[in-house]
Amino acid sequence: MTCIYPGSFDPMTFGHLDIINRAAKFCDTLIVAVLNNSSKTKATLFSVVERMEILREATMHLPNVEIDSFAGLLVNYAQARGASVVIRGLRAVTDFEYEFQMALTNRTLGEGQGVRLETLFIPTSTEFLYLSSGIVKEIAAHKGDISNMVPPHAAKKIYKKFDGTYQGGI
Ligand code: PNS
Repeated sequence: MTCIYPGSFDPMTFGHLDIINRAAKFCDTLIVAVLNNSSKTKATLFSVVERMEILREATMHLPNVEIDSFAGLLVNYAQARGASVVIRGLRAVTDFEYEFQMALTNRTLGEGQGVRLETLFIPTSTEFLYLSSGIVKEIAAHKGDISNMVPPHAAKKIYKKFDGTYQGGI
């Protein structure tokens, strides 16, 4: 079974990594797909290439995980890659409505073009309930400690983007 874990990953956090580690156990191949959103509606801290580098370094221990990027509709990318399952992590109830809408949209779009695409939700581990890429960026921008939120190689790159380093070291 080929699965896709799509997202912005700007940047990847321990919460994402937890989902990747767990999904890799039951997917034959897990494609972590970074959204390449060329429209300027959502400015990102990292380029697609940088986001992929961070993910690659963090998943080197997982031989069935592939890091890729995609543009356009996820359903088309899934069809091109021969994937039938989309993996998404769920944190609090607040995630649910958006995630449910995406899952139904992808399934409906898929049906319209003869593609079966099911979404599989993995509940986050409790220690990452509060964690998001946005929170990480906000803390790092103010030189706060993000060492329990992202791996050290990611933290270095994040602090560099904000032109400073955490006062207490990484
Ligand atoms: O990490 P994010 O930002 O919550 O991930 C959102 C993502 C990339 C999964 C979603 O925006 C997406 O799949 N975009 C591609 C466009 C698409 O297929 N839209 C239709 C489904 S709503």
